[in-house]
This record gives sequence, C-alpha cells and structure tokens, in this order.
Amino acid sequence: MVWEYYNDKVIFMTGGTGFVGTALIYRILSQSSPKHIFVLSRGGFSNARAKWSKMLPPQIIKIFLDSSRMTVMDGELGDTATMSLSDEELQMLKRTVHIFIHAASSIMLNHSLRELSYTIVAPTLCLTQYALKFPNLERFVFLSSAYANSHLWTIDRSSDVSVEEEIYSLSAEYEAHDFPWPYAYAKHLAERLVMQKAAQEHALDKILIVRPSAVGPADEFPYPGFTTPFSTPSTACAAAVALHPGRKINLATRCENPDEEVTIDEVPVDVVADRVLVHVAQGTSGCVHAVSGEKGRLRFGDWWHAFKSERRLPWQVKPVWASDDWHSSDLHHMAKNFKIIGTSFAFKEGKTDRVAELLGPEQTKRLRLYADRSQPYSHSLVHRRHHIHRMAKQLAKKNKLPAFSVGLLCRKGKPLVQLEHAGA
Ligand SMILES: NC(=O)c1ccc[n+]([C@@H]2O[C@H](COP(=O)([O-])OP(=O)(O)OC[C@H]3O[C@@H](n4cnc5c(N)ncnc54)[C@H](OP(=O)(O)O)[C@@H]3O)[C@@H](O)[C@H]2O)c1
Repeated sequence: MVWEYYNDKVIFMTGGTGFVGTALIYRILSQSSPKHIFVLSRGGFSNARAKWSKMLPPQIIKIFLDSSRMTVMDGELGDTATMSLSDEELQMLKRTVHIFIHAASSIMLNHSLRELSYTIVAPTLCLTQYALKFPNLERFVFLSSAYANSHLWTIDRSSDVSVEEEIYSLSAEYEAHDFPWPYAYAKHLAERLVMQKAAQEHALDKILIVRPSAVGPADEFPYPGFTTPFSTPSTACAAAVALHPGRKINLATRCENPDEEVTIDEVPVDVVADRVLVHVAQGTSGCVHAVSGEKGRLRFGDWWHAFKSERRLPWQVKPVWASDDWHSSDLHHMAKNFKIIGTSFAFKEGKTDRVAELLGPEQTKRLRLYADRSQPYSHSLVHRRHHIHRMAKQLAKKNKLPAFSVGLLCRKGKPLVQLEHAGA
C-alpha cells in the first residue's frame, strides 16, 4: 500500500544528491514506479553522478543512472523560488508535480543567522509559496531538524526534555532564547513560516515537516552501513576523540549522572527515508520526528565506549563533566561544535507509532520505521571506520596537525561500497 501510492506520481526533490536525499531516491526507485522524479542539484547531472558515485556501489548507481524516470535539473536555492531554473522548467514543475520534497539545506551548524537566512529560511519560505500554487500538489515535505526545538533544554530544567511533534511558538525571538546553534533557530523559524504560509493558503493538510535527529549510517537500505563522512555528526565526534592526544575531554551537562542520563539520538538514514515516505503515503500532516526516540537512543556511556576502539593511542580518554553551559569556551572543540552533547531529549514519535499500528506487522516488517539496536553501537563505528579516518584527516588539517598524525592516531577502514556484500 505504501509503495503503490508512489506509482505514477511526479516528485520534485531538492537535496536529492545528499545523504538523506540519496536514501529517499533509492527507496522510491527500487520499490515503486513513479511517473518521474526531478532532482535539483548545483551543477546538474555531472555533479549528481559524481556525488552518487562516491556514495554508492556500481549496482545501485545503475538503478539511479539507468532510470529513464529521473532527471537531474541544474539549479540552486536562493531567496526566490526560481532555483535558477528556466521559466519552462518552472511551469512544467508547477503543472505536473504531486509531491515536493525540500531536503536541501546548509548543515553548517555554526554559520551565522544572516548566512542561514539565505540557505535555510528564505528558500524554504519561497519554495513553500511556490509549491502551494501547484494544482496537483498532494504534499510539500520540509526536512527540518529535531533540534529545531533544542532551546527547550534551557527552559525546561529536567534532565530529559520532552519534545512533542508540534510547533513551539516563541514569546520573543532569537536573542531571548538559548538555541545551541543559529542552524537550530533557522530551522525553527523556517518551520513556523512554512506553517504560517500554509495556514494563509488554507493548505495545512498539505504540509509535512520531518525532523531528523543526528543522522547516522543505514541499518539496511540502500545497503547496511551506507553513509557519507560529512553529514553524520557522530562520525565527526569519533574522529575528534581519536585525534585527541590527552586523557581528558571537557564536556558540559546539568545531569548528575551523565553516563546514564545524557543521551545521543542518532537515527539511521533509512529510518529517516522510510518515515518521510510512509507519512507522505499515509497522508500525515504537521510535524513528525525522524528519530531513534526513547526506544532507540543511546546512553552517553555506550556511545563513548564505542569510540575507544577507534583510537590507536594506548591510553584511554575520559570525559570530564562541568556544569558550564553549552556555549562555554572551556569545552573540547567537539562539544563546541556539537553542543547538544551533555543533553537528553525525549523526542516523541507518536505519529509513527500510530502509522505503524495502522499498517500492521506484515507491512511494517518490510519498512525501516525504527532503528535496529540489536547490535552494540561499536558495530556501527566499525562500518564507518573509513569515513572516521577521512574526517580525522580533515580535522587534522584544520587544526594544523601533521598529516602523518592521522595514521598514528586513527584506525583505517575499507570503504564499504567496495565490500562484496554491499548489494542492492
Ligand atoms: N545529516 C544530519 O545529521 C541531519 C540532521 C537533522 C536534519 N538534517 C536535515 O536533513 C536534510 C538533508 O540533510 P543531509 O544530511 O542529506 O545533507 P547533505 O548530505 O549535506 O546534502 C545537502 C544537499 O543539499 C543540497 N544543497 C545544499 N545547498 C544547496 C543550494 N544552495 N542549492 C541547491 N542545493 C543545495 C546539496 O545538493 P548539491 O550539492 O547536489 O547541489 C545536497 O544534495 C537537510 O535539510 C538537513 O538540514 C540532517
């Protein structure tokens, strides 16, 4: 039922060459027969092919490149809805598209709000306005972030902050609330603008906002372990821990027993893709969390323990917790970037639980709606060792460490796409 919904549909996607977008396209093309998928990419087909070739093994790239049902359009986001496309292309999209998935975004957490207004806020609002004019539009999907409401951490004083699948209005704007990054506020604001626009157009039922937490490697699709180095925050953290020469890393929390109480919500990319596609097919509107949630999130202690095996140095590195806030300059650079280390969010996922119940066990067993936690977390790191190494190289360059230090400090893995079992 879920996949039949996509048969004969015309889909337009921004961000189709990214981590989440690639998983979305793979699931649609391999499970259903859409009439056409149009993908926006800066640099058009040659850029898209180069990006997919780095991420996917040949048998899966073939599904992408041989498909007569997919066209890559050369364009980019901006502060108008034109995306640098021609008038004819814009009119064709307007006439034909049923499902509009807006997954392109800057994921630079610490870019200034001014920069993010051009890469997140303005394009999202312009594309909502444009899509709501499409006569055949069934759903406009905006990929936001579960951390769009991370300011709740400093409002709610509990050690595990509940976040509902709803819009939180602010009494005053950015400066009055403590968001960890400008990115979180940009997503928060974009969500509210999307909803406001849809309310003005009496089209709230056409809006789906999907909020992934920290995206991680796939459990199953397009192949187990599918990942990219730069779009998975835990990969960057593992690289930072591997490169750390000392025995201590300064982190901040207000939890009394951080090993047990602090949590990390990493969600496999195929869970994000399947939640998007299932909720679109089932007609869900409003906000949906694409997370591991209370059932599948990791305790900090387990997450940290897994990093140990990625280090080559014979001594252990321990977290040293202070009750500083998440903007403190005394924290390790990993915590300065990924400021939600030290928090715990209980992202609610009632809408997915209800959809899973409606679909029944026969259908849900062929979908990836929840993270698989049957293996220890260290298993997931072994699969991305190659990416951790790449990330470590980049970090070493940024911190002016000699290139050979990466070889000494960080283990090296094989790219998974070369492994034989990485079949479609
Ligand atoms: N990764 C995470 O941990 C995470 C967590 C929460 C939410 N999210 C959200 O999920 C969505 C997908 O993230 P991702 O991890 O797949 O990102 P990604 O791997 O960094 O991919 C970004 C995509 O956006 C496109 N893009 C970026 N800037 C663009 C521009 N100016 N014009 C046109 N296209 C542009 C890129 O396309 P080209 O380079 O081909 O043009 C690429 O396809 C984003 O909205 C992100 O904010 C991600």
